[in-house]
Amino acid sequence: MCGIVGYVGHRTAYDILIKGLHRLEYRGYDSAGVALINDSSELTVYKTKGKVADLERFTENKDISGSIGIAHTRWATHGEPNDTNAHPHYSQSGNIALIHNGIIENYAVLKDALIHNGYTFRSSTDTEVLVQLIEYVKTQNGCSLLEAVQIALKKVIGAYAIAIIEKGNPDRIIAARKSSPLVVGIGDGEFFLASDATPIVEYSNQVVYINDGEIAVIDRNKPLQVVDFDNVSAEINVKTLDMSISQLEKGGYPHFMLKEINEQGNTLFDCIRGRVSIDGKNVTLSGVLDNREKFLNARRIIIVACGTSWHAGLIGKQMIEDMCRIPVEVEYASEFRYRCPVVSEQDIVIAISQSGETADTLAAVELARSCGAFIFGICNVIGSSISRATHSGAYIHVGPEIGVASTKAFTGQVTVLAMLALTVGKLKGTIDDEYFHTVVRDLQHIPELIKQVLKLDEQINDLSKIFTYAHNFLYLGRGYNYPVALEGALKLKEISYIHAEGYPAAEMKHGPIALIDSDMPVVVIATADKVYEKTVSNLQEIKARRGKVIVLVSKGDTVAKGLADYCIEVPPVAECLAPILNSVPLQLLAYHIAINKGKDVDQPRNLAKSVTVE
Ligand code: AGP
Repeated sequence: MCGIVGYVGHRTAYDILIKGLHRLEYRGYDSAGVALINDSSELTVYKTKGKVADLERFTENKDISGSIGIAHTRWATHGEPNDTNAHPHYSQSGNIALIHNGIIENYAVLKDALIHNGYTFRSSTDTEVLVQLIEYVKTQNGCSLLEAVQIALKKVIGAYAIAIIEKGNPDRIIAARKSSPLVVGIGDGEFFLASDATPIVEYSNQVVYINDGEIAVIDRNKPLQVVDFDNVSAEINVKTLDMSISQLEKGGYPHFMLKEINEQGNTLFDCIRGRVSIDGKNVTLSGVLDNREKFLNARRIIIVACGTSWHAGLIGKQMIEDMCRIPVEVEYASEFRYRCPVVSEQDIVIAISQSGETADTLAAVELARSCGAFIFGICNVIGSSISRATHSGAYIHVGPEIGVASTKAFTGQVTVLAMLALTVGKLKGTIDDEYFHTVVRDLQHIPELIKQVLKLDEQINDLSKIFTYAHNFLYLGRGYNYPVALEGALKLKEISYIHAEGYPAAEMKHGPIALIDSDMPVVVIATADKVYEKTVSNLQEIKARRGKVIVLVSKGDTVAKGLADYCIEVPPVAECLAPILNSVPLQLLAYHIAINKGKDVDQPRNLAKSVTVE
């Protein structure tokens, strides 16, 4: 997520802006910049790829005077992380500077129209299109900046929080919001603006949260004004902040992991946005469509990944084989890279990595590429090493994942894999229309369904107290739920340090069932699917040996539920999408057990967020 900071008042803006950017560093970013109207009334922009500290070095010995400015940390969505793509962006005349958090979905259409009207572009960002559009509207209509913003935003499709300053108007910041957060802080003769309250709270605890479709007119000489796109005044609700900075960084949650678990309804909406048509008839992953011949002629797909990403790969295997009838092999990247694998130009290698920096996965990609395979990346961090080493790919767009235990990235990876299978299946004609529309319909509902599952938090918290002192756990599942069992076990062991194993449910009778007794908690994922009856049989085998079972079932289930010692019900959904929903209760179970044990869930012992070494 990008970070926005603004200031207008009686102090030196630069100091407050830079400090505010530091406060927002936790959000993750790849470049930073600041725009100031200095004491000579010049509008200047300073911006660099890299960290806020790099920006500070860049502005040494430069004119950073002035008491009004806006600043930005960029989490790249369109355009690589570099100096040119960093924000703020100038308009063509250089008289307007704009910063933006979000995604302009129709930027390409708007850009073409502006180019047709003589506009040129320095960057490859959607944001620069917005500032040029605002200037174009202002020039064409001879109107004020506020009016131009109101007209321009009516033409924009997407999500945004923006802030704008204009040369010749050193008293006013204009800010607007749709889907991306924006907060105004009210001081004594000064105003603050930010993506969240963390850069504001040390100066003022009086804040106004801007709502969707609202524009804030922040003028140092006037009371705050908030209007909509038709210039109708909006009610201004001033709230008093009562959270610490640390709490604010976590959105009020006690840990980043819990915040990220609870973000999944929104992050999957962002992941799907612009890729599933509103009418549900089309799924488009541009990285696939731009390379359709590769996918149509692929002899085999090899998925390389590590850890949680490898679990997502196992789900992707079943999706792709079910919908595209292309054979898929899933490889631990660390094994693949040293095994001298047989790979050819007819193979597609899909590399899955949240960080895009995992050393084993990067090495596997480089090996496969040297063998002539077509490399497709599924990453979260834009411009990361793995994403740059691929021929094409699809970002999961879930925002920075701070907690070491992966949660929202996992569900984002599985969602992108589902969209890839749907896109390729449609291209190959190996997926029937009814099934396609059923899966796409459920995919569109996933963000809402996840929010329903998140309401189980209290039940799962209560359940966690029963098992806090278990020494071992078994997680069982079949088919699409087998990788969910693996992922649930990994979540538990990496943050609570309880030994946990995931197993295909049918494998129990080939050894592990010897472990079953009344001290062995067993999580069985038995949601409605084509192997449900078989899973119920495994459940009965465990009960016959006095195992304690926590069963995950689809709402309305009676059979597996009747066998459960503890039952968690999730909404029914297309079988191939069940892993997205079913993993969430297991994330919560692991989180609460670890908290009960007093563990550091955000930074568990011995673990790193990105394993950049072998
Ligand atoms: C997941 O909870 C772990 N933190 C770990 O297994 C992780 O998935 C693995 O290291 C791969 O990381 P990547 O997705 O960034 O490549």
